[in-house]
Amino acid sequence: MTTGALADPAGCDAGEEVVKFSHVTNSDKHPKGIAAALFAERVNAEMDGKMCVEVYPNTTLYDDDALLEAMLQGDVQMGAPSLSKFETFTKVFQIYDLPFMFKNIAAVDEFQASEAGIAMKSSMERRGIQGLEFWHNGMKQLSAGKPLVTPEDAKGLKFRVQPSDVIIAQFEALGASAQPMAFSEVYGALQTGVVDGQENAWSNIYGQKFYEVQDGTTETNHGVLDYLVVASVDWLDGLDPAVKDQMLKILNEVSTERNGVVNDVDMEARQAILDAGGKIVELDDTQRQAWVDAMKPVWEQFAEGVGQDNIDAAQAINE
Ligand code: LMR
Repeated sequence: MTTGALADPAGCDAGEEVVKFSHVTNSDKHPKGIAAALFAERVNAEMDGKMCVEVYPNTTLYDDDALLEAMLQGDVQMGAPSLSKFETFTKVFQIYDLPFMFKNIAAVDEFQASEAGIAMKSSMERRGIQGLEFWHNGMKQLSAGKPLVTPEDAKGLKFRVQPSDVIIAQFEALGASAQPMAFSEVYGALQTGVVDGQENAWSNIYGQKFYEVQDGTTETNHGVLDYLVVASVDWLDGLDPAVKDQMLKILNEVSTERNGVVNDVDMEARQAILDAGGKIVELDDTQRQAWVDAMKPVWEQFAEGVGQDNIDAAQAINE
């Protein structure tokens, strides 16, 4: 790097392996934004002359649908889509979309460190994509243009979803409908009433300002938003082995560091929503149980594909 700018596309020196890292979120108060920036900062400082990472946040390069195809074409080298975005490549990550599967991010972390969790990183190798590290975000919350206290409140509403059959089934179980849509389009769709509501983690509700165009956000903690840092198998295989190892070591250290403090980032974003005037609806245990009862039956539809062993392993961690 000739300059200190992290995402300056003109900042890489001749001879450096240029790594375009494309993602869809903001960088401020956001687990993925912060982790991607730190990864770039460390590679650019410690691998000067060898490798240079350019981060493109906020869908400035690709949305998540286009990202994986672009990666296979060699147009972009790295990204960190949410686990819900891999459904056309592999079904194994459906476990993360099943509502109320993990009680918190610590349980997700433990599952990912298990043999089953680690194996999932290589589930798309055949398709040319290698999973490198999981990055956490947080638990998902639910919002709409009207207060959501009981599951019946969601009936008849249309929710924006990530492209996941599990999440679509989850909303259908509430008597609601679901519309898959790119992340960058959600604010406009909520504002104009194309959809009535959405689900996401606090950092995205804050970063995209969804709270501005929703009546309030209900703290359901009903699901998980987590990421997989990916690269193409071809690109990784083509790297000088020493360069690849150093990059993967930095990525591993950054992942451990940022995953370790992710709950703080999550809670900061929650507080920032309140500070900006957004409303948060808290549920008591009985109210939350009604959402569990309404959503959890979708597990049955997906148990075979996800694997009962995986479900049992995830549940054992919750205990
Ligand atoms: C979404 O599409 O809602 C999220 O996956 C965006 C993200 O990357 O956090």
